Amino acid sequence: MDRNAALVTGGNSGIGFECARQLAREGWHVLIASRNREMSADAVRRIAHESGDDAASEMGLDLGSVASVRRFAGEIAGKNVPLRALVCNAGLQVMKGPRHSPDGFELTFAVNHLGHFLLTNLLLARLLANAPARIVIVASGVHDPKLRTAMPKPSITDLETLAKTGGPRKDAFDGRLAYVNSKLCNLWFAYELGRRIEAAGVSTDGRRLAVNAFDPGLVPGSGLARDYPPVLRFVWFRILPGLARLLTPVVAGINPASKAGPALARLVLDPTLARVSGKYFPSHTRWREAPSSDASYDVARARALWEESVRMTHLLPGESPLVAR
Ligand SMILES: NC(=O)c1ccc[n+]([C@@H]2O[C@H](COP(=O)([O-])OP(=O)(O)OC[C@H]3O[C@@H](n4cnc5c(N)ncnc54)[C@H](OP(=O)(O)O)[C@@H]3O)[C@@H](O)[C@H]2O)c1
Repeated sequence: MDRNAALVTGGNSGIGFECARQLAREGWHVLIASRNREMSADAVRRIAHESGDDAASEMGLDLGSVASVRRFAGEIAGKNVPLRALVCNAGLQVMKGPRHSPDGFELTFAVNHLGHFLLTNLLLARLLANAPARIVIVASGVHDPKLRTAMPKPSITDLETLAKTGGPRKDAFDGRLAYVNSKLCNLWFAYELGRRIEAAGVSTDGRRLAVNAFDPGLVPGSGLARDYPPVLRFVWFRILPGLARLLTPVVAGINPASKAGPALARLVLDPTLARVSGKYFPSHTRWREAPSSDASYDVARARALWEESVRMTHLLPGESPLVAR
């Protein structure tokens, strides 16, 4: 295959699907990685119908399982795909819990952060070999208390408790807080990854590997609310999408997936961003580069999360160019 390839996690639904669709329209091959293979096959058919038979393919991936992420990375290694972009988009919100991954981690933390951490590290050598390449991490404005999003403020004490409960307490679970905390982890991860790539000198002028973070804004109608109570699900799926289409021209923070997805794809496609790395592109500025929360720039906490994540996923030297021998 000679066309550029992009891996989009969670590309069978919502924002990820619209991003994949846009990349395919621009001539990329998109590899959709999600759990529900039927939905993924349907997404591939829709994209192929629009952009041609070679525009999309799909593979099964469960980001909540370390073994599944490793298996997936192994399968990719055996494929001849010129991978030049990784879009870490998949995510979930758990309302009743805590639910735990097969490895014993709270599920929101496991899927939204840890699975992407491992996947990215296992694919880094491949991305570098095909550089220039880009990594985009989908975070959320809910990580930033200054934005008043009606979600709780992030609250993280120690990382061990976070990984077990999604929050600061060993004996309590709040699904919304677990989600907000996982989105702060997305930013810590994005910035620390960018710093480590620079420090290791693996990204050079001619062969850049850029890492940026994205916030889609409020995107009602996506599958993110699948675990909500029935009344909220009704509002999310039936009422808010129409409202989003009406409001989006005047309210920058609310968007239909058909607008947020292409904005996410822009971070892969836009030639003016080729040298931009370690930045955040939120919906409230209509995706112009802007600061994320103060806490997201805490270098010590980002470093600690990185080191704990290496330990939790048993990432070994040699498996990632960023893990020291
Ligand atoms: N919607 C919003 O208002 C909003 C706002 C801010 C940020 N975001 C972020 O945007 C991203 C996309 O969310 P969305 O709103 O488009 O929701 P969505 O439609 O539910 O998409 C989420 C995707 O993640 C996949 N996924 C979930 N668990 C997975 C797992 N264990 N392994 C692999 N894939 C998994 C899902 O596919 P399978 O179920 O088939 O695995 C699905 O394709 C998320 O990171 C979310 O946090 C959304």
